[in-house]
Amino acid sequence: MLRIALAKGRLLEDTLPLLEQSGVDCTVLRTQSRKLILRDEVQQLEFILVKPTDVPTYVEYGAADMGVAGKDTLMEVNCPLYEMLDLDIAKCRMCVCGYTGGRRNVTRSLRRVATKYPNIARQYYAGKGETVEIIKLNGSIELGPMVGLSDVIVDIVQTGSTLVANGLEVLEEICPISARVVVNRVSLKTKGARIKQLIGGMRQAVERAKKQ
Ligand code: PRP
Repeated sequence: MLRIALAKGRLLEDTLPLLEQSGVDCTVLRTQSRKLILRDEVQQLEFILVKPTDVPTYVEYGAADMGVAGKDTLMEVNCPLYEMLDLDIAKCRMCVCGYTGGRRNVTRSLRRVATKYPNIARQYYAGKGETVEIIKLNGSIELGPMVGLSDVIVDIVQTGSTLVANGLEVLEEICPISARVVVNRVSLKTKGARIKQLIGGMRQAVERAKKQ
């Protein structure tokens, strides 16, 4: 039995076609239910549905053999996992955003950065040689500069519509983001043939999708 951690929500919807095109029957995943473990005896597959940011944790600890996680989450948690395949879905950009010109509250000695990604933000500014004050938020990050909580935000930008709707803009691009297949280090040894076969099928599906 191979256990796969998948993110509930949009990432799951984008992942399903790739799994299906690689030959996996996803009927159990397409059936509406509140179940968190979906088992397919015939294929010897078990899917667990977890919060997107928890996928690396389940895979790191071997509670799942593999999973699909956003590169943003992987960069933030930096778990010891094998990142095996870029699925080229759920694409967005990690950016510094704020008001035009990056205007800053000069009464503060350090630039204040609000973000769901404190580690990514810290590393980015450290790379630029700048010490900043980081404020961790869990959502609605764009509010940071709007209410004076922070000077800028570090966040993902997909369509850009949230920024536009709130009068903010991209000031700096940090890196591109997309969904990745990650594998537990022990599982790759003990179930390597099965995992590599599955990932091989997904890789072909990704290549086909790129050509369309
Ligand atoms: C994410 C992100 C931005 C938005 C970007 O938030 O934090 O706010 O999506 O997408 P866009 O460029 O297409 O507008 P999410 O929708 O996950 O909600 P959150 O504010 O609760 O984090």
